[in-house]
Amino acid sequence: MIAPSADLAQRVRDLGPWFHDLELRGVRTAPEHPLGNFLRDLWRQVEPAFPEDMTGKTVLDIGCNAGFYSLQLHARGARVTGIDHNAHYLAQARFSAEVLGADIEYRQMDAYDVDQLGRQFDYVLFMGVLYHLRYPLLALDRVAALVGERLVFQSMQRGSKHIVHTEPDYPITANSIFEDPRFPALYFLEHSYAGDSTNWWVPNRAAMEAMLRSAGLRIDARVEEEVYLCSPNTR
Ligand SMILES: C[S@@+](CC[C@H](N)C(=O)[O-])C[C@H]1O[C@@H](n2cnc3c(N)ncnc32)[C@H](O)[C@@H]1O
Repeated sequence: MIAPSADLAQRVRDLGPWFHDLELRGVRTAPEHPLGNFLRDLWRQVEPAFPEDMTGKTVLDIGCNAGFYSLQLHARGARVTGIDHNAHYLAQARFSAEVLGADIEYRQMDAYDVDQLGRQFDYVLFMGVLYHLRYPLLALDRVAALVGERLVFQSMQRGSKHIVHTEPDYPITANSIFEDPRFPALYFLEHSYAGDSTNWWVPNRAAMEAMLRSAGLRIDARVEEEVYLCSPNTR
């Protein structure tokens, strides 16, 4: 058990820097976060996607970071598994769960390897990870296969926010379609974006939605510009 106050604040500092601004028994983990209160603002948009009472429901939180979403869903009664490939963030997640007495399973795992979990989850969160992947569709296909009821998905998007009708096929001479900024496109970041060299591919809106469909998902709602609720497309 971690002693309160000074001890706790010191442990939080020792585990920094934090991306998730959690409140651990009165101690904030990232009160000076450059993105401000983005996490709680986003959560307000996303939380109606989950039942109030999630007793008996299973959740997989991919790229769980320090566990903000895992903790919220555990508090609703769900059985939560969080995975992240980053040991630093997982240490924060395990520490936070311990401080809050939350029984959450955290595993160090790559998003490409989720098929090794060998089972589906009622709810899968795949938030803020896709654009960090060199092979986004490989991961998305594997993630989609694990979705029992609902995928809650977020990706950074850039470029056009408009959707243009696309044909099922085009002749090889069709070139001007690629000059339309509304045509589905992924922007490749060879070096770095926002000071982060782990940003690889950023879709425009049309590409994001087409990729979700292509992975076998139905888009049920777009609850915020970059956030989608999807379910398995059983048709
Ligand atoms: C921008 S943060 C998003 C954290 C959280 N999902 C959220 O929405 O607040 C990206 C997270 O994905 C993790 N991540 C990036 N690439 C990953 C990969 N290939 N496999 C597993 N986790 C990954 C990072 O370590 C980090 O915790």
